[in-house]
Amino acid sequence: MLVLGVESSCDETGVALYDSAAATSSSRRSGLLAHALHSQIAMHNDYGGVVPELASRDHIRRVLPLTRQVLAESGRTLADIDGIAYTQGPGLAGALLVGAGMARALAYALDIPAVGVHHLEGHMLSPLISDTPPGFPFVALLVSGGHTQLMLVSGIGRYTLLGETLDDAAGEAFDKTAQLLGLGYPGGPALSKLAATGDASRFSLPRPMLNSGDFDFSFSGLKTAVLTLVRKAGLGNAADIAAAFQTAAVDVLVNKSLAASLHCGATRLVVAGGVGANALLRERLTREAASRGIEVFYPRLEFCTDNGAMIAYAGAQRLAAQSNTAPDLGFAVKPRWELATLDAVQAPSGEKSDTPRAAP
Ligand code: KG4
Ligand code: ZN
Repeated sequence: MLVLGVESSCDETGVALYDSAAATSSSRRSGLLAHALHSQIAMHNDYGGVVPELASRDHIRRVLPLTRQVLAESGRTLADIDGIAYTQGPGLAGALLVGAGMARALAYALDIPAVGVHHLEGHMLSPLISDTPPGFPFVALLVSGGHTQLMLVSGIGRYTLLGETLDDAAGEAFDKTAQLLGLGYPGGPALSKLAATGDASRFSLPRPMLNSGDFDFSFSGLKTAVLTLVRKAGLGNAADIAAAFQTAAVDVLVNKSLAASLHCGATRLVVAGGVGANALLRERLTREAASRGIEVFYPRLEFCTDNGAMIAYAGAQRLAAQSNTAPDLGFAVKPRWELATLDAVQAPSGEKSDTPRAAP
């Protein structure tokens, strides 16, 4: 099944083509025929954050050229597409409507099914687009700009929330700290680059909820502590402050993820979402998980942040299991949408699977 995936939930327009028939049991990566992305970061940078109306208008400009691009790169035509997946939520309503409207209209015109995909399900399944995908069950650490959650994943659509942030998301904490340090938007990558040049032991910052005994997070206190520290120590110490912040945030993420994995008896941990690109988080998690018999799986770096490939892949799993394939022009986007409320997918895909499905 050849699936066109369209992502437009925030400030990136992503389009991809995934062919489940071309994916083999040993390489789901080979099913990804093409993917293309336009990032709006430069456009929003002047405003210090995403301007929703500008985001929507830019998605309108980009989505069709990107679709033509992936078709051309993969040597396919519109007539070859079997289904269309689009991000239905969560995200910015106007931005979501652009991808949903385009996807539904195109599917109707081509007389093929369309499916709305949960953005976080896309992130969470993105490590499966790999030559060495994790089998089920696994624990997933979802760390994006808008969400920080630990999930137990027993299969596609079988998600149990273990814990989540009570206030700011991890990516939001990186972005706000970066802003305090004058690093622009989004600040995660710039902050981690600056932190690499700093001394993490010079300043001590709190590790909120590290010993709370549950799998919840809180990052707003850490952000306030950074503000106080910046006022006291000054921006001349920005690299050391960045390093102290990054170490504190990573400490909490690593400890909670490992505790959740051990609690569930999971030997596999998946990390997804933009903060999953953070080098310190990857290095610490991989090392500390290995010493506890846990293997960590990451998406390819380019698929940590928003992209169309993860939507095409998740959509292919759902379309393969969808019984009602009649095209439908009616649609609604879901700016707020809980991941744990999704329907389970019985038969994961049209591709062969070699993944064990043991209960935790
Ligand atoms: O998953 P994503 O692209 O968007 C959402 O769905 O929210 O994640 C974007 C977030 C931003 O907050 C960005 O600062 C953060 O991921 N991020 C990073 C890094 N790369 C992106 N945070 C820390 N270190 C990085 N290397
Ligand atoms: Zn995202």
